[in-house]
Formats: sequence, structure tokens, C-alpha cells
Amino acid sequence: MKKISLTGIKPTGTPHLGNYLGAIRPALELTQEYQAYYFIADYHALTTVHNSAELRESIYKVAATWLALGLNPEESHFYKQSDIPEIFELNWILSCFTPKGFMNRAHAYKDMVAKNQSEGQDVDFGVNMGIYSYPSLMSSDILMFRSHVVPVGKDQKQHIEFARDVAQRINNHYGRDLLVVPEAIIRDETDLIPGLDGRKMSKSYDNTIEIFLKPKALKKKIGRIVTNSQGIEEAKDPDTCNVFALYKLFATAEQSTALAERYRAGGLGWGHAKAELLEVVDATFAEARERYYAYLDNTAELDKILAHGAAKVRPLAQKVLAEIRDAIGIP
Ligand code: TRP
Repeated sequence: MKKISLTGIKPTGTPHLGNYLGAIRPALELTQEYQAYYFIADYHALTTVHNSAELRESIYKVAATWLALGLNPEESHFYKQSDIPEIFELNWILSCFTPKGFMNRAHAYKDMVAKNQSEGQDVDFGVNMGIYSYPSLMSSDILMFRSHVVPVGKDQKQHIEFARDVAQRINNHYGRDLLVVPEAIIRDETDLIPGLDGRKMSKSYDNTIEIFLKPKALKKKIGRIVTNSQGIEEAKDPDTCNVFALYKLFATAEQSTALAERYRAGGLGWGHAKAELLEVVDATFAEARERYYAYLDNTAELDKILAHGAAKVRPLAQKVLAEIRDAIGIP
């Protein structure tokens, strides 16, 4: 039997190149080697998104993105978290084995507390219980399907450690391997994907390039990438340039070598470099973009695919949950 790989994307906003390179592409690469589970963590998004139209739209965008980029719903398992109620029942069980102090130490929560403190606010200002227990629900996503590996970005490392810890606690307590203790697969490259301003590409820095921008909008976005003030004729260093850093991620090795030479030779302006970047990014996503907008125009099809995925995985969740309920003494 193939081992299980599982990963989720939280539908907040529009997926960007950082999500693609750091999460979506590496996860899709595991489809052959593993039984792959990809899901939309919609109830995780509810911790911060309280606008119904926005949430609904983001769910469809994330679904369309995965499918457009090659997720095959027959070969893998593709579903919405909210369609699997067993995950929320397991979350309660896990929370009864999770020391409260653990959640106090969760990075996202701690950051909010620190920010409140520095602003002289009550420590828990703006913190809802969903944010507080976010790591527990994430553990449930993972443990529900007895996942062996979880491909994620570095920022999610602590969450996987929480999942491992609670699984071990429950296994030790009941004296058997009820749950699989998952391993994180962490891509360090994720941190090297620069956004428009050269910092890590992230929604929270407002420096993202969305994957499926149409050519005109993409050109405008790329135009905003920060460069230095060197003139056209000056020789330039590709290795300190945000445009080149992104170019390398989409171009072939030969293309990157050739562009690096043009940088060093002088006579290549930032406008030229950006035009090269535009061309490779556009070429990478042109076909997928057609599929993406076609899916967004047909959300009934997306609903159907996700319902099919839920019907496929729910019996598995029911079976695991029944074993756990039996072990803990809930008939
Ligand atoms: N917390 C993850 C993120 O923000 C999303 C997520 C929710 C997830 N549940 C998961 C990722 C389970 C991997 C496995 O990116």
C-alpha cells in the first residue's frame, strides 16, 4: 500500500506564486508516490474571514487553482474540510488530550498576544477561540486520514509538531497505534520566493503576484517589483535582483544563464528584465489560466467535484473515528 500524503490550503484571498512554488507544485509532485489528499481548509479560513461572499469566492478560487494546475480528482482525494463532519468530532477528542499551555505557545496566537501587549491592549483582544485552537483542528485534518507525510511551508512546522504530540499522547495512553504519527515534509525554498518588495512573498506583506493574473494585470504587477536605480547601460548583478530571483524559478537553466549574462554585460534595463520575467511567467500559466477561469465560470462543476471527493473520503473518516470512539469508551 502507498503511504498517505495530505495537505490543505486555507481559502483566504487569491493564490499567488509563493503558494504555487511553495505548496501547490511540491504537493502535486507527490501524487505518484503517495495516496494524495488535498483539501480546502475552509473552516480554518473562518477564523479570520467573516464575509460570506468573500469566503465562498475564495473557496472556489482555491478549488479552481488546484484543478487548473493539474490535480486529478480521480487519482487523488480532493475535498472541502467542512464536508467531513468527522474532522470536527475528532477535533473535540484531540482537544481533550491537548494541554492548554500548548495552544498558548502556538506562534500565530503568541504573535497576536505580543502585538496586543506592545499596543497596550488587553492580551486577548481580537482573538477568537477558532484562532486559539487552530492547531488542534489542523491536527484533526491530518490525523483523521492517518496521514504519513504532510508537505508544508516552514511556517507550519510547529503545527505538525502539535499533531505529532497529540497523536503520541493518545497512542501512549490507550496503549496502541490508534493514530499515525505524521512527518512534515518542509520545503526550505519556500522562504526564498521574493515578493514585489524582495521580502518573502506573503499575503500579509501585500507583495504577492497572483498565479492567474491576465497578461495586462500581470505586466502591471511585475512592473511594481522593486529594483535598484542603476541605468540601462550599467552592468548588473543578477544575484541581488528580485526580478532575476523570480525569473530563475520559472525559466529553464539555459534561459537563466543567458539572462544572467545579459545582466552582467550591461545594456539591459530593468524594463527589459521585467519583460523577460513576464514572458516566462505568462508561458508557465497560460494554459492553466484558461482552465482556471473556465472552472470559476462553472462553480456547479466545482461543487460536483468536491462533493464527489467528500463522498470518497468520508467513509474512511467514519471508520477511523469509529475505532477511536471505541477506544476512548464512547459507544
Ligand atoms: N494551516 C495551513 C496554512 O495556513 C492550512 C492547513 C489547515 C493545513 N489544515 C492543514 C496544511 C493540514 C496541512 C495539513 O497554510
